[in-house]
Amino acid sequence: MFEGFARVWTPLAASAALKQAPLGFTLAGEKIVLFRDTSGAPAALLDRCPHRGVALSLGQVKANGCLECPFHGWQFNARGVNQHIPFNPQARRETLGATPLPVREMGDLIWVYTAPGVEAPTEPTPPEGLTDPDLARTIIERTWNCHWTRAMENMLDSPHLPFVHRKTIGKFTRRYMTPDSTMTVTWDDTEFGGLTRSLVDGRDGGGRLEFHRPNVMALHIPIPNRHLRIHALVIPVDQQRTRLMVVGSRDFLKYRWAQGLFAANSARIADEDRAVVESSWPSEVPPISQEHSVATDRATLAFRKYYFETLKPSAI
Ligand code: FES
Ligand SMILES: [Fe+2]
Repeated sequence: MFEGFARVWTPLAASAALKQAPLGFTLAGEKIVLFRDTSGAPAALLDRCPHRGVALSLGQVKANGCLECPFHGWQFNARGVNQHIPFNPQARRETLGATPLPVREMGDLIWVYTAPGVEAPTEPTPPEGLTDPDLARTIIERTWNCHWTRAMENMLDSPHLPFVHRKTIGKFTRRYMTPDSTMTVTWDDTEFGGLTRSLVDGRDGGGRLEFHRPNVMALHIPIPNRHLRIHALVIPVDQQRTRLMVVGSRDFLKYRWAQGLFAANSARIADEDRAVVESSWPSEVPPISQEHSVATDRATLAFRKYYFETLKPSAI
């Protein structure tokens, strides 16, 4: 299961989007249902009733906090344990559970671990911009028709900024770049993934970009003494679709009226990337040897190496 994306923590939904009612998702080809029990804690199960395979996300959460299957009314608690089978008091409920996934709620997001029926060996480690309670955050969501690896590489790619984002985050570089300019892209491995910077003709604009394995990018936008970041959470749906959550975080203009401005800005930048990324062929990034790369591809090649060495062989 979760081929190419197994045994990792990933954000799956915004906390605010998950009320008590069940919500169905596809994550790396697998159907998952999220709901909240009576305590408000999030729960994640494979979205497949063990009885006849029906989507549990079509059911409802009952007063006891169990998710009730819409077909024959079997009830499952947040751990997937079967609590009720109508008309069959003799049934061995302990052998008839749904399959749970590890789930956490951190930083306005619901995270799941992509291995069913196990205890997660680690905890999610979101970048501070996603969790610091003193920051204001905006979340926008998009679905792109591409494999998640193309979207992830786009988020780690600096040399596209003055082209795709010529009117937004790329316009500063356009002011001083010349046809003879040289861009130097650095990459440093870190505990969480990697850190990349790009310098044009030796000029460091101060921006830096972090890759948090497996699928989070954090862009630090340099404003003196201020925190302003854009995070891209690149969530695989299936071979041809990716859900993108863009989370902006800031420590200024925290008023509610400013939310719309920051959200619109994130949306505009993400929408600028869409057509280019969706046009990439093949849809999934190929092995490094099968495309032509140059020095400024350093960060995307670091991701690709991680993808093929760690995620692809780990299908379970
Ligand atoms: S299919 Fe779920 S209870 Fe029968
Ligand atoms: Fe971009």
